[in-house]
Amino acid sequence: MDWGLKNRLARIINPINGRAVMLAVDHGYFLGPTESLEVPHLTVKPLLKYCDSLMLTRGVLRTSVDANFPVPIVLRVSGGSSIIGEDLSNEKITTSVKEAIRLNASALAMSIFVGAKYEHNSLVNLGNLVNDAEEFGIPVLAVTAVGKELKKRDTRYLSLSCRIAAEFGAHMVKTYYCENFEKVVNTCPVPVIIAGGPKLEERQALELTYNAIKSGASGVDMGRNIWQSKYPVPMIRAVRAIVHENSNVAKAYDLFKKLCNEKPTKPKKLIQPKIQTK
Ligand code: 5RP
Repeated sequence: MDWGLKNRLARIINPINGRAVMLAVDHGYFLGPTESLEVPHLTVKPLLKYCDSLMLTRGVLRTSVDANFPVPIVLRVSGGSSIIGEDLSNEKITTSVKEAIRLNASALAMSIFVGAKYEHNSLVNLGNLVNDAEEFGIPVLAVTAVGKELKKRDTRYLSLSCRIAAEFGAHMVKTYYCENFEKVVNTCPVPVIIAGGPKLEERQALELTYNAIKSGASGVDMGRNIWQSKYPVPMIRAVRAIVHENSNVAKAYDLFKKLCNEKPTKPKKLIQPKIQTK
């Protein structure tokens, strides 16, 4: 593997234990001001030092993340549809590789929509993005999206999507946890990372994390189950304990409760800063 690509991948997935805690805050690219992510810098700032990498769009990166903080960036480069639009699967590549290099991205992320109306376009987008990104040694994370019309999150569907993403050259795949997740991981020749999905009770989200790791996932790219928690910092630290320290659910949940009692971490003031971007 190309040195630069391998080095960038090592910023995302720790080469010592093969694990990753990615913090996903890209939701606004199709959901707008999602609950608890209304003012991105307030959500992101307290969590930054606990994630291995940050997944987001260029707009939120430029305006809401301190460039002096050395967090590796996984830049979402696909989009083009919104939650109120006609078809969520109708995405294109919206951010160039040149821009990703300017922003010092360690990896690029885009969604594929297997089985949806625009399946073909999204897969061709993935192939083309891998071609362009590999030219500069940048790895690509494929996100197996399950849009409004794609409610299937079973083993068969997710194995199919993950495998196709890897066949098109994705260097990592992000998907959802499902029953028999070992099959999804074992039939995908690149690292598989799970999204958290909609908000669950904290203990359930830790169970999800634990089960995914036990089934062979390389880590999490988690959003809502961290920053929609009343206690985001304790939550990300508990998730980290499972991913990086092999904690079981009981131990991670105890850590969560202990940290919750230390001090409140949820920011209260909602003020949008006006940061100069250019
Ligand atoms: C949407 C995404 C999100 O980043 C992903 O869903 C992760 O966030 P969450 O843990 O909230 O599901 O890629 O396509």
